[in-house]
Amino acid sequence: MAANPDSLRISDVPSRARTVAFARGDGIGPEITDAVLTVMEAAGARLDLQEVPLGRGVYESGTRSGVDPAAWDILRGSRAFLKAPVSTPQGGGFKSVNVTIRKSLGLFANVRPCRSYHPFVASRHPSMDVVIVRENEEDTYAGIEHRATAEVVQCLKLVSRPGCERVIRYAFNYARDRGRRKVSCLTKDNIMKLTDGLFHEVFDEVAAGYPDLLAEHHIVDAGAARLTTRPEKFDVIVTPNLYGDILSDVAAEISGSIGLAASANVGDEFAMFEAVHGSAPDIAGRDLANPSGLLLAGVMMLGHVGLAEEASRVHNAWLRVLERGLHTADIFQHGVSSRRVGTREFARAIVAELGSAPRRLQAVQYGPTRTGVRRPAHSRPPRRPRKDLVGIDVFLDWDEDGRDPVALAGRLASAGSPALELRMITNRGVKVWPAGLPETFRTDHWRCRFLRRDPGRPLRHAELQSLLAAISGAGLDYVKTEHLHEFDGVPGYSSGQGE
Ligand code: NAI
Ligand code: MG
Repeated sequence: MAANPDSLRISDVPSRARTVAFARGDGIGPEITDAVLTVMEAAGARLDLQEVPLGRGVYESGTRSGVDPAAWDILRGSRAFLKAPVSTPQGGGFKSVNVTIRKSLGLFANVRPCRSYHPFVASRHPSMDVVIVRENEEDTYAGIEHRATAEVVQCLKLVSRPGCERVIRYAFNYARDRGRRKVSCLTKDNIMKLTDGLFHEVFDEVAAGYPDLLAEHHIVDAGAARLTTRPEKFDVIVTPNLYGDILSDVAAEISGSIGLAASANVGDEFAMFEAVHGSAPDIAGRDLANPSGLLLAGVMMLGHVGLAEEASRVHNAWLRVLERGLHTADIFQHGVSSRRVGTREFARAIVAELGSAPRRLQAVQYGPTRTGVRRPAHSRPPRRPRKDLVGIDVFLDWDEDGRDPVALAGRLASAGSPALELRMITNRGVKVWPAGLPETFRTDHWRCRFLRRDPGRPLRHAELQSLLAAISGAGLDYVKTEHLHEFDGVPGYSSGQGE
């Protein structure tokens, strides 16, 4: 395997790394946690386990985030967190524990392996083995939304270069450390040329540093179609937050084993591991629950804290039990399963197989590396580009004159400005002036683009302010502005559709 400067050898991992927080969660959480801890202990995983109060009891004590204030110190002192599912109370301003932890601790990558276990678990795609790495903090999930006018609301999509870089670098390191061959990037950069364009651009830059891995890009809609029909064409996928949210559920579902799926939320040092399923209150406390999702989360966690050998041992024993047909009720199939077992018996069967390998399913072998980012968390481009202010987009709430763009342009022209000239008006991104089409539907929300008259010198803020004062003075209601810059002479703004 090629040397990987971004990976850490096991011997480099300080002993603190083995401090692991866990939470038993709600519903089936406690029983599957017991099963998982039993298996990990039997596998010889030496962990310093710290229990964290989380979920129902914490919500009931009035903490709306669901995370006890005392939990933060335990989490900060740990390298990883194994979290059983938590029931989120409906309404009442309660926040999901996951969102709270993910955002508070900077867990920038969500990793979800989606594998089929055909023929032991029914799947339409017998050879599927895809890992989705989803950017976890940016994109439209910053939750910055505004109502601009009576008719129009908006959501701000924020994408940063360091945000792209660390999740993409994580995906390449993950692929390399696990002997995978290809990383596919999915974006919609044919439409969102700046935001998704940046993600794609950084992907190409990072890929150049991994010549041992294949790298490819798909437009997300075509890529998603291909993923659902021919998932075996994919290996590791890296994608922005929203697409990743959707695709990771789709991929887990079509693998046929969503009930067995696990995910990791990974930060620079700390990571949180959990099953994809919820707390299943309908079967709680009855020894019916399948502990596999949390167990596979535990396997990822062992790898993260440098216990690769123990991770392989647990995973292979689990695969062997699946093959032997000892199945919990949720995956039991006549003709395939040999016996229906409860949560506890399933765990005992795995313990009994520790040291065995699967015979038909592919065995796993985790390497002695830990996929860390090992880069400054906020690495900057080598040089900050020259930035020139060249104009402004002024958004108006305007519902007069039959919403005739020519009339609006006339009002804006009379507002006048010595430094700036009106170049274009769009409505929902489509150019309506000059030379718009009468068929274009028009809302009460107008984007009016002004650019500098003298391309020889950058604008000053005062010139924008006098333009806005003139617009106000003409009786027009501006509800938002965006400054237009060139970076090293390249426009940092999109053109209007139809421009
Ligand atoms: P769920 O995943 O808990 O249950 C859906 C169905 O799958 C149920 O019929 C359940 O019995 C079954 N099921 C789930 N896990 C199973 C397992 N390990 N073994 C056997 N059967 C299993 O989803 P649901 O009902 O929508 O949510 C229940 C609660 O879980 C809610 O309060 C929800 O907020 C919470 N939840 C928590 C998550 C987390 O902590 N990460 C994720 C999803 C839901
Ligand atoms: Mg989701």
